[in-house]
Amino acid sequence: MSQSSYLKDIAKYGLENEQEKLVEVLNELIEYSKKSRRINLALQLQSILKEGLRANESKGLVVVGSKKYFIREDDRLLDELIIEKITSDYRFDNLVCSPSTKNELVLFTKEHETINMLQQFNLPVSNKLLLYGPSGCGKTLASYVLAGELERIMYVVNLGAVVSSRLGETSKNLSRIFKKAASEDCIIFIDEFDSIGKLRDYSQDHGEMKRVVNTILQLFDYMPQRTILIAATNQVDMIDEALLRRFEYKILLDLPDESQIYAIIDVTLQKTPFRIKSKRELEQVVRSCRGLSYFIIQKTLITAIKRSMYNFKDLSQKNLFIDTSIWKDLISKEK
Ligand SMILES: Nc1ncnc2c1ncn2[C@@H]1O[C@H](COP(=O)(O)OP(=O)(O)O)[C@@H](O)[C@H]1O
Ligand SMILES: [Mg+2]
Repeated sequence: MSQSSYLKDIAKYGLENEQEKLVEVLNELIEYSKKSRRINLALQLQSILKEGLRANESKGLVVVGSKKYFIREDDRLLDELIIEKITSDYRFDNLVCSPSTKNELVLFTKEHETINMLQQFNLPVSNKLLLYGPSGCGKTLASYVLAGELERIMYVVNLGAVVSSRLGETSKNLSRIFKKAASEDCIIFIDEFDSIGKLRDYSQDHGEMKRVVNTILQLFDYMPQRTILIAATNQVDMIDEALLRRFEYKILLDLPDESQIYAIIDVTLQKTPFRIKSKRELEQVVRSCRGLSYFIIQKTLITAIKRSMYNFKDLSQKNLFIDTSIWKDLISKEK
C-alpha cells in the first residue's frame, strides 16, 4: 500500500467511527513510515495513537502487548460489577420443595408465559420475586430453575460483592445492571439481597445505604414488565420494609421435612448406581437428617458414597450399597 491509500483508509474509518480498523491501519502506516525512513512522521503518529488510546481506555479500548482491541460493553459490565451472565438447563424437577412452594413458583412463571394476555386485559404483570429462607435450601437453585423454565438469560449479581468492593458506586452500578437487563429482556438475580443492610456498618452516616435503598426503589418502580427481578436472602428481616413491599411474590424455601429429605436423597442417587440397602437403614438416616439443609444432606451423602466406594470389591454390580454408618458419622459432625 502507498501512503495515500493509508490516508484514504484512515479518513474512511475515522468518519465511520470504526475505531478498531482505524487503530489497525494507523499501526500499518507507522510501520510503513519507518520502513520508508519517514521516522519523524512515524514517531508523531505513534504518540498521537498512544494519547488517543489512553483517552479511550476508559471507554473500553484496551491495549495488550502489541494488540489493541475493544472489550465489549457487556464484558466490562460483567467484570466491573462482579456479575455473571448465564443460561440455565435447570427445570422444576431439579428442585425439591413443598407442593405450595412449587405452586407459587409455577404461578410466577405463568405470569410471564401469559404476559401478552395479561397486558391485553390491562392487568399488571408480577415481575419481582423474593426467595428467602435458610442457607442451602435452594434459593440460588430456584433462580436457575426459573431461568431455565422461562428460557431467559439471567444476570447473576452478588450484591455482597458489589457493595463491599464498590462502596459509593453501588447505586450507579445497580442502575447500569437494570438498564442492561431491561434492554435485553433478561432476568436479574440479586443474591445476598440483605447486603444492603451491611452498608449501615460501612458508612458512618447511613447516607450510602439510604441512597442505595432509594435507587433500588426507583429501579423497581420503573422496571419494564418484561424484565424479571429475583432477589434472594437468608436474612429477610434485614431488608427495608419499603423494599419488601415491592415484591409481588415472596417465596420461602425452607429446611426439608421428612418427605423432602427422602426426595433429595432420591434426586441425588437417581443417576448413580448407589442405593441404601434396607428400608430400615434409610428410615434411620432420614431421621438423623432432620434439621439439616438440602445442601448439607446432599454433601454428606456424596462424601459417604465416595468413602463407601473404597470398600467395594466389585464395582460392576447393578446396585452398590452405601455404608450408612459413614454417612451418619458425617451427619452428626454437621450438627
Ligand atoms: N431445594 C433443593 N432441591 C434440590 N437441591 C437442593 C435444594 N436446596 C439445595 N440443594 C442443593 O444444594 C446446592 C446449594 O443450594 P443453593 O441453591 O445454593 O442454596 P441457597 O441459595 O438457598 O443457599 C444446590 O446446588 C443443590 O445441589
Ligand atoms: Mg445461594
